Amino acid sequence: MTAQPSARGDVAVVVPAAGAGLRLGPGAPKALRLLDGEPLLVHAIRRIAASPSVAMIVVAAPPAEVDAVGALLAPIAPVVVVAGGAERQESVAAALAVVPPSLGIVLVHDAARCLAPVSLFERVAAAVRSGSDAVIPALPVVDTIKEVSGDGDVLGTVDRSVLRAVQTPQGFRASVLRAAHAAAAGLHTDDAGAVEKLGLVVRCVAGSDLALKITRPMDLALATHLLTVSDPDAV
Ligand code: CTP
Ligand code: MG
Repeated sequence: MTAQPSARGDVAVVVPAAGAGLRLGPGAPKALRLLDGEPLLVHAIRRIAASPSVAMIVVAAPPAEVDAVGALLAPIAPVVVVAGGAERQESVAAALAVVPPSLGIVLVHDAARCLAPVSLFERVAAAVRSGSDAVIPALPVVDTIKEVSGDGDVLGTVDRSVLRAVQTPQGFRASVLRAAHAAAAGLHTDDAGAVEKLGLVVRCVAGSDLALKITRPMDLALATHLLTVSDPDAV
């Protein structure tokens, strides 16, 4: 494995994949759980590697699995594997640290969103390329959202027309993401949140139903079904 980018594109994709997957229940780290017989991470890397913009992929793996993940992914794509941290943010930072400055765009993509299609990577990268500092895929919220008190009483109904559910890949001008991580005090739940704190504009593009985050056992069942659905967005 080498940290040198290929000449194929201008984008590095940083893949946090070091989480335990506690909400999936007992078993291997989430990125290594199987979906249709293959680890989630393999599904994710295959789609990332098929995206024409992508020149480099860096995976943050569970520290005990760095060598195993390298061996797993080597037949699929050239991937640099680093040890992740105790928090997602630390895993992203560890992977970002090996991205060379020559790559001007960085996408951060959760291994857990392993069915995110090529078209989504390209849409996010294109929006950064055309001038946005930070770009996130987002979907309208379908449920009615209530604000509730600690003991469960409804305080009000939120206007969902102004709400969006946010996915990955999130795309950034590389210098902006580095500055946001350097300035981050405390934990942020997504990388765009750190950019917001810098006072910069974060732009939404259309998300994809295929970019669902596999979190609970039912999500694995849904993803298994999605693999069988013919979708022009899918690879
Ligand atoms: N992640 C990471 N390093 C961590 C924690 C999370 O790289 N210390 C990654 C996960 O591997 C996943 C993504 O961040 O691809 C989103 O996290 P999440 O869906 O919460 O995954 P887990 O933390 O593995 O799941 P859980 O919270 O249920 O344990
Ligand atoms: Mg987690």
